[in-house]
Amino acid sequence: MSAAQGEIKKVTTHKLKEMKQRGEKISMLTGYDYSMAKILDDAGIDIILVGDSASNVMAGHETTLPITLDQMIYHAQSVVRAINRCFVVVDLPFGSYQGNSLEALNASIRIMKETGGHGVKMEGGKEIGESVIRVLTAGIPVMGHLGLTPQSIYKFGTYTVRAKEEEEAERLVEDAKYLESIGCFALVLEKIPASLAKLVSESISIPVIGIGAGPHVDGQVLVTHDMLGITHEFKPRFLRQYLHLYDEIKKATQQYIADVKSKDFPNDKEQY
Ligand code: KIV
Repeated sequence: MSAAQGEIKKVTTHKLKEMKQRGEKISMLTGYDYSMAKILDDAGIDIILVGDSASNVMAGHETTLPITLDQMIYHAQSVVRAINRCFVVVDLPFGSYQGNSLEALNASIRIMKETGGHGVKMEGGKEIGESVIRVLTAGIPVMGHLGLTPQSIYKFGTYTVRAKEEEEAERLVEDAKYLESIGCFALVLEKIPASLAKLVSESISIPVIGIGAGPHVDGQVLVTHDMLGITHEFKPRFLRQYLHLYDEIKKATQQYIADVKSKDFPNDKEQY
C-alpha cells in the first residue's frame, strides 16, 4: 500500500466548515480516556470533546466546577494517544479563563503543548471576549459554548432550557455573531429552543453543534456515558440512549461474582 492509499483524512477546522457548507452533519461525542476514545475514533466520529463533564461522569462531582486544568490535561492526553482521524477539542476548566486573558492563554498553551489536542472550548459570549481573542491570537482554535453553560450553574440555579424569553434569546444571537466575528471556528448550543438554534445556525457561517438544541443545527453532541446508558439515572428529553450499559455491566458483574463464589471461574481452560 502506498503512503497516499493508506493516508487517513484527518478532520480539521477547515473540513468542519466545508461540512457545514455542503450540509453534511457533524458528529461529536465526549471522550475522557484512551479505550473509549479509540472506539469512538475507529467508529468514525468527527470530533471528540474532552469535556469538563469528566468532573461529573468520571469523578462523580455534582457540577463541572471542581475539575482542574491538570486533570483536564490528563484526560486529553489519554484521548489524543488513542485517535487517528478525529478533531480533539478540550474544555478550558472553570476558573482558567474567566478572570484574566493571560491565564486563558497560558492554560490553552499548556493544553496544546502537553496533550496534542487540536483546540479548546470556552463557555460564554462577549463577557469572555478578551480571553477568546487572546487565545485565538496565538493560533489556537476556539469553540464557543452558549445557552446552558454548566460552569455558570450556580448563577442559573437550574438546568432547565435557556433563552426561552426574548431578551435572553436576542443576547444569545448577538453573542453567537460576536464569537463568529472574533474568529471562533465552531459553536456549541446547549439546551435552547430548536427554533432559536435554527436562527443561530442560519445567521452564522461557522458550524453550530447542538445538545438539546433540535435538528436544525450543523451537528450534534452528546455525553458518551449518557448516550451509552452508563449514567442510567440521567434522562433529559434530548437524550437518545443507544445502549443500556449500566444494566449490562451490572448483570455481567453479578455473573462474575456468582462464578467466583461458586468456583466456576476459573475453569480448566482458564489457567496455566
Ligand atoms: O463538558 C461537556 O460534556 C460539554 C458538552 C455538554 C457540550 O460541554
